[in-house]
Amino acid sequence: MDKKYVAPSLLASDFANLQRDIEMVNQSEADWFHLDVMDGVFVPNISFGMPVIQAIAKHAKKPLDTHLMIVNPDQYIKTFADLGVNHLTVHYEACPHLHRTLQAIKAEGMKAGVAINPHNSVKLLEDTIQDIDIVIVMSVNPGFGGQSFIENTYQKVKDLKQLIQSKNANTLIEIDGGVNVDNAKKLIEAGADVLVAGSFVFKSENPTETIKDLKVEIA
Ligand code: DX5
Ligand code: ZN
Repeated sequence: MDKKYVAPSLLASDFANLQRDIEMVNQSEADWFHLDVMDGVFVPNISFGMPVIQAIAKHAKKPLDTHLMIVNPDQYIKTFADLGVNHLTVHYEACPHLHRTLQAIKAEGMKAGVAINPHNSVKLLEDTIQDIDIVIVMSVNPGFGGQSFIENTYQKVKDLKQLIQSKNANTLIEIDGGVNVDNAKKLIEAGADVLVAGSFVFKSENPTETIKDLKVEIA
């Protein structure tokens, strides 16, 4: 089986102890850092932006998987590249010129991702899938951590996997929202490659062990 990834979302970390939580992820079996950038316009919440990502990049020893929940992401592509972001994901719903946006992300040397909201079909990616390195299937409505997982995600993942195979694309499927040890395996079986987990990791008693549990579950 291909490699499977776990990406803890720092949105659920303790911002007053950010360095400690970053070190925990560095030392753990996690594969990537998932960073959620929210602008209060595309989603009804504001999280963190460039100065915080700059601080994270100073300590993080694993790829920075950055999920932009913002309008007009194009204007910040170069800034995120300069900060050391490795994967930059924009929302399908925020990009009227998605093909151009994807090329611009790649031109800056980053992997290009597209996230789709729960109400949108993966069919919308039919004509761009070959240009997409990562699709984030939102399994909650974006904007907040700690929400419950939307069950029809499994079917969406299966449909997306089929689309990727039919187009011979080389695209990873990432699931974001409400992921835990109870749905992890079923998501991987449906075709997922990457699992984001925020609250499930950081609100647990022993985050390092929780990451390990997720890795074992999907191995
Ligand atoms: C939601 C964010 C998620 C969030 C996941 O808008 O995109 O990455 O941090 O948090 P949990 O795992 O708590 O649902
Ligand atoms: Zn996210």
